[in-house]
Amino acid sequence: EQGERVFAKIIARENLERSDLLTLLSLDTRADIAQLFRLAYEIKVDNVGKRVRLRGLVELSNVCAKDCYYCGIRHSNRSVQRYLMSDEQVFSAADEAIRLRFGSMVIQAGEQQSPAFTEWITRLIVGIKERSEGRLGITLSLGEQSLATYRRWFAAGAHRYLLRMESFTPALYSRLHPADHHYSRRFTALSDLRAAQFQVGSGVMINLPFQSLDNLVTDLLALRDLDVDMIGMGPYLPHAEAPLQGMAPDFIADPERSMDLGLKMIALARILLPNINIAATTALQALAPDGRERGLLAGANVIMPNITLPECKSNYQLYENKPGQDEICDESMLALVSGIDQIGESVGWDEWGDSPRYQARK
Ligand code: 5AD
Repeated sequence: EQGERVFAKIIARENLERSDLLTLLSLDTRADIAQLFRLAYEIKVDNVGKRVRLRGLVELSNVCAKDCYYCGIRHSNRSVQRYLMSDEQVFSAADEAIRLRFGSMVIQAGEQQSPAFTEWITRLIVGIKERSEGRLGITLSLGEQSLATYRRWFAAGAHRYLLRMESFTPALYSRLHPADHHYSRRFTALSDLRAAQFQVGSGVMINLPFQSLDNLVTDLLALRDLDVDMIGMGPYLPHAEAPLQGMAPDFIADPERSMDLGLKMIALARILLPNINIAATTALQALAPDGRERGLLAGANVIMPNITLPECKSNYQLYENKPGQDEICDESMLALVSGIDQIGESVGWDEWGDSPRYQARK
């Protein structure tokens, strides 16, 4: 049968073609899907081991210049209370990341471009480096910026950058964003990040309205061609105050299909890019309490626990019912670590956890 033929190719480490990837994304029996996850897991263990990388995620600000049709913190959503964390709040989050022995943190915010914003981030990077004596790795997730800004932040001490393309099909990208959000500008930002020497991560949303399986194959092939160091991707989750749902009235975001496709995408990314870092994202956790652990078993090796202060968190709702809103950090950490333990993996405490792919490229 078709699945078997492609499984044999994976085992023989043969190059997978578009049609093979489509076959794998279309697998529909439990047994076949489980086999795909097993193969991806084996490849993960061979290449990055059973070591989970934790990144403390700080949601610095929900102020956003963009108006993405799917996103709960889009510029036009007037019902969101906008905030900026203070320097002190960011530094205490960094202290928290050090205390929890995360090797690194991620600074994420809505997109803003201004000299003042560039300076603010620079100051934060320098401050975090200082108080952790250089031990804490810093990943940025701050959207499209100029090459000069990227260079400045790299020089200040950040070393990884996440910029999701959201979709690598330009026509789909256009349906998800207003006309002044340019696919080509975002794509160029990815190469600017490389030019600025960052380890580059990208990713997409999965099971979106208007999205075909073929679009998802395009995403996987694009991520492979870009030779990214990291991938962060997860299922689309509807938000009542975002217009996308109304634009696609017939679309049903079936949670089971979302979970299934989300995990398959992780598995296929692992097979195509064996030695990179792949995140089991919060969106998976939103679909099922054990979503992140299932992500690890399908090939992911990174988890980004949210260490944003509770008073800010509630205003950073990219989608509804985002998990981790009312968790006490230590409790949820214990639950996370025991979940990791239960699947026979361990945490790489106090390590930056750069991908072997990046080490090899250096
Ligand atoms: N569902 C799932 N993911 C979303 N994001 C934004 N809105 C949603 C949503 N409704 C993702 C985007 C963005 C990341 C920070 O969050 O992919 O890049």
